Amino acid sequence: MADKPRNGKVTVVGAGFYGSTTALRLAEYDIFETVVLTDIVEGKPEGLALDMNQSRPIEGFETRVVGIGGGSYEGTENSDVVVITAGLPRKPGMSRMDLIETNAKIVREVAEKVAAASPDAVLIVVSNPLDEMTALAQLASQFPKHRVMGQAGMLDTARFTNFVAEEAGVPISSVRTLTLGSHGDTMVPVPSRCTVDGKPLTEVLAADRIEHLVDRTRNGGAEVVALLKTGSAYFAPSAAAARMARAVMEDSGAVMPVCAWVDGEYGINGVYLGVEAEIGREGVRTVVEGDLSESELAGLRDAAEAVRAKQADIADL
Ligand SMILES: NC(=O)c1ccc[n+]([C@@H]2O[C@H](COP(=O)([O-])OP(=O)(O)OC[C@H]3O[C@@H](n4cnc5c(N)ncnc54)[C@H](O)[C@@H]3O)[C@@H](O)[C@H]2O)c1
Repeated sequence: MADKPRNGKVTVVGAGFYGSTTALRLAEYDIFETVVLTDIVEGKPEGLALDMNQSRPIEGFETRVVGIGGGSYEGTENSDVVVITAGLPRKPGMSRMDLIETNAKIVREVAEKVAAASPDAVLIVVSNPLDEMTALAQLASQFPKHRVMGQAGMLDTARFTNFVAEEAGVPISSVRTLTLGSHGDTMVPVPSRCTVDGKPLTEVLAADRIEHLVDRTRNGGAEVVALLKTGSAYFAPSAAAARMARAVMEDSGAVMPVCAWVDGEYGINGVYLGVEAEIGREGVRTVVEGDLSESELAGLRDAAEAVRAKQADIADL
């Protein structure tokens, strides 16, 4: 509908697989005035934007996509939300941590430039390793911590939900799952918060099947990477980042699992970690402390210490 109100500007930095699919999803929501897609490569974001705009008559959306190449930030000024996807993806056999040095240089530079061009933006970081790059983006941007968050939990939770629905043979919509912790080995699936048609997951699936699905979720990214051979997942990841950007723009107050600054919740202090948070115009409104079993809480605290150790070194990268 041409007369529907559209507000704001969202910039997606990095026009690779993750960035371009995120930009298209954001444009297709048809709620933004402008979606800006940028990259260091000249021509790539411009070409992708042109292509996306030409899909508007078919898909019926009015949001304009603007492509900016050559590493320029001219045209991104005063964005409301900036999604940082710039950085290398994994190759088969690589862990997310193998990307840290290369991606730290990229994310630091991008966050500094974004902060200069859009000083009031909310940053959503997706570059890997996720928890460390989110912490680094906050450091480099000097933004308040609630205005910098990372995307991982939405994706990990969606993967878990998909696996449970397939295993139980039920529609996706009847399954609720939750994963917290870090985006990696110390991901913390939360079976006590998982249900199928309102019933506890433990009443629907056998314990060894749940354990198998938890493992598959934890390795969900690597499973896709191994099949693709080059590059990593982007359809489900872009859906997650786009929903977070939308929740910010609409000031929706939606509670989502995201990588947020935790300081006191669950007895954990001063670390970026995957938790549930209420998302609004200011970024993270509040970290939501849900009920966890003793072992889940212990897992979350272990994850916090594991990522804290790695985040402590990011200032030197
Ligand atoms: N958080 C998650 O859940 C999750 C999921 C999947 C992928 N990822 C990560 O997202 C990142 C992007 O993945 P992808 O599949 O789009 O990779 P890709 O290689 O397709 O795209 C990366 C893009 O970043 C651009 N780039 C590099 N340096 C830049 C800079 N300084 N400024 C602007 N652009 C720059 C590259 O030119 C390239 O177009 C990777 O780090 C990947 O590991 C995260």
